Amino acid sequence: MIKKCLFPAAGYGTRFLPATKAIPKEMLPILTKPLLQYGVEEAMDADIYTMAIVTGRGKRAIEDHFDRSYELEHQISGTSKDILMKDIREIVLKCTFSYTRQIAMKGLGHAVLTGEVLIGDEPFAVLLADDLCDNVGKSVLKQMSEVYKKFPEHCIVAVEEVPKESANRYGIVEVEPSRESSSIFKVVNMVEKPEIDKVPSNLAIIGRYILMPEIFGVLKTTKPGIGGEIQITDALLTLAKQGKVLAYKFKGKRFDCGSVNGFVEATNYFYDKHDNT
Ligand code: G1P
Repeated sequence: MIKKCLFPAAGYGTRFLPATKAIPKEMLPILTKPLLQYGVEEAMDADIYTMAIVTGRGKRAIEDHFDRSYELEHQISGTSKDILMKDIREIVLKCTFSYTRQIAMKGLGHAVLTGEVLIGDEPFAVLLADDLCDNVGKSVLKQMSEVYKKFPEHCIVAVEEVPKESANRYGIVEVEPSRESSSIFKVVNMVEKPEIDKVPSNLAIIGRYILMPEIFGVLKTTKPGIGGEIQITDALLTLAKQGKVLAYKFKGKRFDCGSVNGFVEATNYFYDKHDNT
């Protein structure tokens, strides 16, 4: 059973400046809900109620969002606005949130390692709130936790096919063909943001991982990779070489909300879906 979900949330969100000057990018809303709340709801759908958030300077709004707000709640109590707080109130009551700060931005691998203190010695999920997934039916994390039940002791990365020309924006995996499954594959190689002419496949990692705690030990010895940052992809490659990493082609729709285009696409999609009456 996966009981904890780690949310790396220390990044500056420079692509959204000036909006992210004083507001954490994870708090930018798609309609009325911040990106991070979508992520937390996805974790809850996978029966995870312990949220471990790696934050940084200027991210205090995240802690306030996942807490009671007595004055506001008192003000709107008994009015038609009360209903708007229902979901977040439920989240705050059902989940535990813990935080640690990443002092320096040294990459996703470094952010995950920073979260070790909150996770301890157990398997855990990682969710990047920038990658917003529409939870139709089972959420992506729920699907992955079911895969994990069948293949415990493995790390699992969620993948989707992307056009080769955009593969240099992702961690790309090479997998062993499988006769048993059309969605679960053994990873044999992985590379972070490959050069376009060296792209090994079109299977890109999206921001959902299930990791074994041994990843922390591996991260401690992983050298900075592309961009001079400690990459989770490079650490996972060490485990993939030992046959311990699976790629899971998830069912569902995902939006890259780390880019303005993806953010607008997600906004339009959720607006059309939502009951606008
Ligand atoms: C990170 C990971 C990358 C993954 C991507 C998914 O990159 O390093 O492997 O494909 O998230 O969104 P970032 O988007 O932080 O550059």
